[in-house]
Amino acid sequence: MKTLDSYLVKLIKAQGPLSIAGYMAEALGNDRHGYYMKQDPFGAKGDFTTAPEISQMFGEMIGLWHATNWLNMGSPAEIHLIELGPGRGTLMQDALRAMKVVHGLREATRVHMVEMSPALRKIQQQNIPAELTPHWHNRIGDVFRQIDGAPVLLIANEFFDALPVRQFQKKDRGWHERLISLTQDEKLTLTLAPVPSPEKLIPAALHRAEEDSIAEICPVGENILMEISEYISKHGGAGIIADYGHDRHGTGDTLQALKSHEYCDILQDPGDADLTTHVNFQRLKEVAEEAGGRVYGPVGQGAFLKHLGIDARANTLMAQANATQKKDITAALHRLTDKAEMGHLFKVMALTDANLGGVIGFSTDEHK
Ligand SMILES: C[S@@+](CC[C@H](N)C(=O)[O-])C[C@H]1O[C@@H](n2cnc3c(N)ncnc32)[C@H](O)[C@@H]1O
Repeated sequence: MKTLDSYLVKLIKAQGPLSIAGYMAEALGNDRHGYYMKQDPFGAKGDFTTAPEISQMFGEMIGLWHATNWLNMGSPAEIHLIELGPGRGTLMQDALRAMKVVHGLREATRVHMVEMSPALRKIQQQNIPAELTPHWHNRIGDVFRQIDGAPVLLIANEFFDALPVRQFQKKDRGWHERLISLTQDEKLTLTLAPVPSPEKLIPAALHRAEEDSIAEICPVGENILMEISEYISKHGGAGIIADYGHDRHGTGDTLQALKSHEYCDILQDPGDADLTTHVNFQRLKEVAEEAGGRVYGPVGQGAFLKHLGIDARANTLMAQANATQKKDITAALHRLTDKAEMGHLFKVMALTDANLGGVIGFSTDEHK
């Protein structure tokens, strides 16, 4: 039996069934055996690829987006650039390079990485220029305490999709939480809580859903976004969230496991397969607005990148490229922006304080 498997069996025997959120938290973040805690899962040899790993253009566009925000903030002498879940640090590296084009911005920038994985922190440390004296933190609240009221620029790419969700299934007596329990021969299995949970946990728009519908909520993600929105609305700044997900409340089981670029059973390889869910952008928008932030989007990632000028950037790169590189740049541009690839399912939402004007990339009819 694999180590995390046996740990989970012991845990369930001792404490009773785990929620889906409890299972995700262990599978991804268990100190010793959690998926992100022990390895680098990215790239062709890993389990999945993300936008910044596909092309430098993605991080560069995010860097330029934040550069315009810094200028629109009146170029503060000190700005804290924070990334949540920075993976290999590739996006931050590309964004920082693009931000160099704006005079004075690099000198003003203080870099903060919010990362739970020791394995990924090591890789990030190799990729982020040491002269910027980046800081690493376990939680966003730790950053806010340290910087004490200074304005921020924040990035979260494929961070919210990795946070634990709770799932509920509608039955005739109400919404029952989906749980992970054990079969007679001590294998992990999905069950339903015998007693329904309070309906107020489920978004009101879903209360009339058909029997057997599944609703997901992400309390951890909501709390993180609330903290960010409260900080930004009070102290100033802008944040950008890019992820795959839907822009309306909806039902359905979106939890999926990925190993070596193939889908697998969510219970099959805890700690050795990535687990993600679709982000509910409508809920994130509601949370951010309730906490005082101004929200832009979500819009499709393709529309956002095109508004920021990714085609022009691709042309500039191509002008200096050989034939193979040209093919790669064209393929990456297509993958990042085409509706049938990442252009539509992946969405971008921004959050700013109420005074920040001139936010670019969202003045579009193309919301899908
Ligand atoms: C899917 S990866 C995305 C990486 C990167 N943003 C990219 O686009 O390549 C998720 C990242 O979030 C980190 N992460 C997941 N849950 C976290 C948490 N609760 N606190 C801090 N980091 C977390 C992971 O270790 C990893 O770096």
